[in-house]
Amino acid sequence: MASAKISDERLYVALDLPSIDEARAIVEILGNTVESYKVGLQLLPLGGAEFGQELKALGKNVFYDFKLHDIGATVEKATRSISGLGADLLTVHARPDVMVSAAAGRGDSSLKILGVTVLTSLDKQALEDIGYHENAENLVMRRVEQALKAGIDGVVSSPLEANKIRSAVPDDFLVVTPGIRMPDGDKGDQKRIATPGDALRSGASHIVVGRPITAAIDPHQAALDVLANMRA
Ligand code: C5P
Repeated sequence: MASAKISDERLYVALDLPSIDEARAIVEILGNTVESYKVGLQLLPLGGAEFGQELKALGKNVFYDFKLHDIGATVEKATRSISGLGADLLTVHARPDVMVSAAAGRGDSSLKILGVTVLTSLDKQALEDIGYHENAENLVMRRVEQALKAGIDGVVSSPLEANKIRSAVPDDFLVVTPGIRMPDGDKGDQKRIATPGDALRSGASHIVVGRPITAAIDPHQAALDVLANMRA
């Protein structure tokens, strides 16, 4: 009898590591357990975009977390460049003009654009300090509406807002949630968090997990634990 597939492409492992060699080592350790990877700001300046292409050649899903935020013309051209790399997901900050420009730059490539609503490390006090007087939930919902209007494919949000977002968007709209911690895990700098299973039950289409897997003593076992929690 064929054994059940363990991996789940809804799990994106964030490769926030100091070097491509270390990222490659984690990908090798995780093997067939993980199908999807996020390459973000720590690796992108070190050849992360090329490494993403290496991951694509291995058949993995690749999410470039550039979090673009610039004038429209620059965002459009940057998105066009990134769409040529063959990745699956790209983030931009969820500002209306930025999202519209990214949608234009993506053209008819298969790259999907996600708007970053509110960083999951920001709580009420942190938002006030920046000068946002709206609470996180209202700010997120305002940005979700703007993402839909801009014609992008989804948003990144805390798992605590996934439920409300899911009820306001079409079924194929992506809701990608970082801020994922295991029930007994260390929160670190994340403030608005949920377990893998709770995030999916709340309406997340994909989850992003970084340090709970990459900084674990046994990353392979940690990934298996996350996958089990996703199924629970
Ligand atoms: O290590 P940890 O699981 O906290 O990693 C979460 C990842 O998700 C990091 O790469 C972080 O940049 C990213 N992220 C986030 N909050 C957002 C968007 C992205 O934590 N709103």
